[in-house]
Amino acid sequence: MTSTDPRSTVTCMGVYSKRVLPHILNTCGGMKSVAPMRQRACEGLGGDVIEIGFGSGLNIPFYPDSVTGVAAIEPADAGWKLAGQRLATTGLPITRSGLDGQSLPSADNTGAPKAVGATSLGVAVAGA
Ligand SMILES: C[S@@+](CC[C@H](N)C(=O)[O-])C[C@H]1O[C@@H](n2cnc3c(N)ncnc32)[C@H](O)[C@@H]1O
Repeated sequence: MTSTDPRSTVTCMGVYSKRVLPHILNTCGGMKSVAPMRQRACEGLGGDVIEIGFGSGLNIPFYPDSVTGVAAIEPADAGWKLAGQRLATTGLPITRSGLDGQSLPSADNTGAPKAVGATSLGVAVAGA
């Protein structure tokens, strides 16, 4: 399935998912009580990481020093926009690398990492 496929999650996103949900996730996901879960989700990460469902980049402060770069996959422009301040102040190279976790760029033509695993907070870990 490609990102232009009518069955794709991205093309099916409505106003709520595109405009409203990113703000709710940014507020709720930014609550102090979530921090220990983010800490746990991100610990042990290293090298290049793909975060599928990047949202507003709330995981950025939790990436350990061993992470060298992040490929952010996020369909909602509003989420990416809300990440602006965090993106501007991190020293980590973070690139919006795709819109749909269902159709990631292949390792062959982009150098994208080969192995991917996911956690409940949407962090995907790339194999070295
Ligand atoms: C529960 S939020 C998690 C956001 C962020 N990882 C965090 O921990 O705050 C899930 C995110 O997945 C995104 N999403 C929805 N469908 C997606 C898809 N097909 N591919 C990639 N991301 C998607 C949503 O826009 C949303 O930002």
